[in-house]
Amino acid sequence: MNILETDYPVNPYALSCLESSLVSGYIPHEPFDLQTKILLLDVEDMLIGGAAGGSKSESALMLGLQYVNEPNYHGLIIRRTYRDLKGANSLLDRCEHWLSRHIKDGVVHYDRIDKRFTFPSGSTLDFGYLSNDSDLMNYQGSEYQTIIIDEASQLPEKHIRYMHSRLRKTTENDVPLRFILASNPGAVSNDYLKDTYVEGPKAFIPMTYRDNPYINNDEYEKQLEYLPEVTRRQLMNGEWNVYDGSWLLVTHEEYENCLQPLPDDKLLFSVVGVDSASTGQDKFACTLISLYQTGLMWLSDMVATRKMNQEEILFTFLEQHQDKNIKLIAFEREPGSDSTFAKKYWQGLLPEYNVVDFSPQGSKFVRARPVGKSIREKRLFINKDIKESLINELRNQFGYIHPLKEKMKEYPSPDLLDSTDYAHMGVMKILENKTRVTIL
Ligand SMILES: Nc1ncnc2c1ncn2[C@@H]1O[C@H](COP(=O)(O)OP(=O)(O)OP(=O)(O)O)[C@@H](O)[C@H]1O
Ligand SMILES: [Mg+2]
Repeated sequence: MNILETDYPVNPYALSCLESSLVSGYIPHEPFDLQTKILLLDVEDMLIGGAAGGSKSESALMLGLQYVNEPNYHGLIIRRTYRDLKGANSLLDRCEHWLSRHIKDGVVHYDRIDKRFTFPSGSTLDFGYLSNDSDLMNYQGSEYQTIIIDEASQLPEKHIRYMHSRLRKTTENDVPLRFILASNPGAVSNDYLKDTYVEGPKAFIPMTYRDNPYINNDEYEKQLEYLPEVTRRQLMNGEWNVYDGSWLLVTHEEYENCLQPLPDDKLLFSVVGVDSASTGQDKFACTLISLYQTGLMWLSDMVATRKMNQEEILFTFLEQHQDKNIKLIAFEREPGSDSTFAKKYWQGLLPEYNVVDFSPQGSKFVRARPVGKSIREKRLFINKDIKESLINELRNQFGYIHPLKEKMKEYPSPDLLDSTDYAHMGVMKILENKTRVTIL
């Protein structure tokens, strides 16, 4: 909910504390209009951000330093990794720079090891990172009145939620509790932030470089124009709903364009890629890719099923495509010692075919990239006459395949895409002459 479109509450105590930090010089920059609104807002839980350059990080620092003249104040600023926290012009760097004179004069104490700034009032501002579950231990037992997470969408929802438990104060403490997330759209927690803050019940304050008088808008826009469409829309307009597309290997438009009827050209050979189903949830999937004399490939047919009789499904599929000169059947190599057995088993069942097992390299996203590239470069087409539900399922899998493992857990295994990857890999290997088969 955009809180600025409501009669948002303002905290008078926040104003006196802000003035005090400005007078002490702990906040050396005069906040501009939107920053002042954020600093005075009487809201416990909020998200600021959206587009790039709105001054999320600068505002985060101001928010962190706003109450440092109050003796009972303890603030914490978090980034996902240690590197994010320590890099050049990072928040920690900026904070040290802002307070350099006070540190030099011995007014503010900076503990580099603990990454803690201690002020004459006894208040503190800590900096930390939260990359994985074990980092949560660093915060166990601590108590903060302000917790700020910069680039919050990079942290998984469970870590963001956990940090709420560190926000508390004793009854006699007047300092307000504030949980502030600053973020651009995208990354793992895009949907959580969107559903909870941007479109949800909690406070959202949209910010863009257009609000920031310190950024040359025209110049910055020119730079943003270089970005690919989805990232550009996220960073320029702060759009939270283009997220899934940000990981698309092929855009919806590219996918629609690659749906073409099988050509009349001479077919050279075909490869069947197989994704075995390891659990009851997964589907057994086969994809047939054929190479034509024109040098173009066609995904001619696919099958995906939860039925148990995998052998029978594959036999039927092969029988249906006897005329396609199938040179190779490519499986994913099973992990561990099962691999030799699995390969022998399939080769035994399919003596008239060449069976290979490719060991999976990298994440599913990484493995799917060559297929995406072939589609984008118009070298691989998809037979538009395949069952519509399969075409839709593959489109869907192209849509949710994601480089982050964490994100993939929320979706079913992309079995059709996997079997397509192996078929495509098989064609490539034959072309590179890495697999001993003779092309007729
Ligand atoms: N009140 C201010 N006074 C002076 N400079 C400011 C002020 N607020 C922001 N800036 C400057 O504007 C620039 C952008 O601010 P900032 O880095 O905080 O934006 P951001 O939203 O975090 O950007 P990104 O999306 O890249 O993370 C910085 O150079 C910052 O120092
Ligand atoms: Mg920033």
